[in-house]
Amino acid sequence: MKKIIAILLAVVTLSTVAFAKAKLKVGVSMPTKDLQRWNQDGANMKAQLEKAGYQVDLQYAANDIPTQVSQIENMITSKCKVLVIASIDGSSLSNVLATAKKKKIPVIAYDRLIMDTDAVSYYATFDNYKVGTIQGDYLVDALNLKTRTKSDPVYMEFFTGDPGDNNINFFFGGAMDVLKPYMDKGVIVCRSGQTEKAQCATLNWSTEEAQKRMENLITSNKYGPKGTKLDAVYCSNDTTAIGVTNALLSAGYTAANFPIVTGQDCDVVSVKNMLKGTQAMSIFKDTRTLASKVVEMVDAILQGKKAPVNDTKTYNNNSKNPKDSKSFIPSYLCEPVFGTKDNYKALLIDSGYYTEAQLK
Ligand code: BGC
Repeated sequence: MKKIIAILLAVVTLSTVAFAKAKLKVGVSMPTKDLQRWNQDGANMKAQLEKAGYQVDLQYAANDIPTQVSQIENMITSKCKVLVIASIDGSSLSNVLATAKKKKIPVIAYDRLIMDTDAVSYYATFDNYKVGTIQGDYLVDALNLKTRTKSDPVYMEFFTGDPGDNNINFFFGGAMDVLKPYMDKGVIVCRSGQTEKAQCATLNWSTEEAQKRMENLITSNKYGPKGTKLDAVYCSNDTTAIGVTNALLSAGYTAANFPIVTGQDCDVVSVKNMLKGTQAMSIFKDTRTLASKVVEMVDAILQGKKAPVNDTKTYNNNSKNPKDSKSFIPSYLCEPVFGTKDNYKALLIDSGYYTEAQLK
């Protein structure tokens, strides 16, 4: 009898918890549906939050800042208890998030840090600096930079992402920390001279913009398999890499003589390019892991506990005096790893991220 009562009690308690959670709504604001990355993130977040018993209001903002602001306003008025936001422009949400703060709605910055606001409670992302250094180290190895001298330099151009995305400071910054010593020694030569972040930025991380800029660089520097030498193009992510690859293909390069192109995200198109030999590497960021970390954060916040973090000293979002430790957002950084045609099977297929058929 005692056993039966205990079981009944457990069932009642469990269903009460599930019922209480089911009433809680979490707002998830993603920048766009157009890039594969955010579609996947949105879908993962929704599935995992629902599995944990929450209601989810998932919105994609078509890369339009006013749309993202009004979607977040709606999430606030429709009584979301936590907001999870991947911003389009990190510095454009201060006003709407001031309203969230007034209503005591905690905010988790997702993947991209939200700047210039004291309304962000936590940041969940990948180790973005490490993304940049892995890309840089890959180029150092693939181009044998350690043993080269300036009498036999490599020729390289550089592409990064949207200037409003704080992540580019870490991707581009990390890569440049690795590559700059070789530029200073004359072992890497950038014929265009465009090596500053602002010169290498790509609005909205757009494939078309990257393609246009690469086409211009090809024309103005006469790059081509029969023209001046181009050994590598550093690209911070796959959407820019795909544009660069398109331009290089039009200039006549083939897999046999293709410059080394880096990337990030292991987007389907880029993995296909890696298999074809028209992109050398990408970075794999398992967005399922990021989503599960965010669910842990949401759970902790809603139970009035501290969320798990592993970094409190890297991500300053300018909300206070830069020297004030409160400007550093408690963060959880997931591990990025590099992907190539040699390890894609284990990384992407065996882990269930993609099916083999998707990459055909
Ligand atoms: C993300 C990258 C992505 C890029 C463009 C960045 O903030 O960290 O994974 O490739 O945005 O969507």
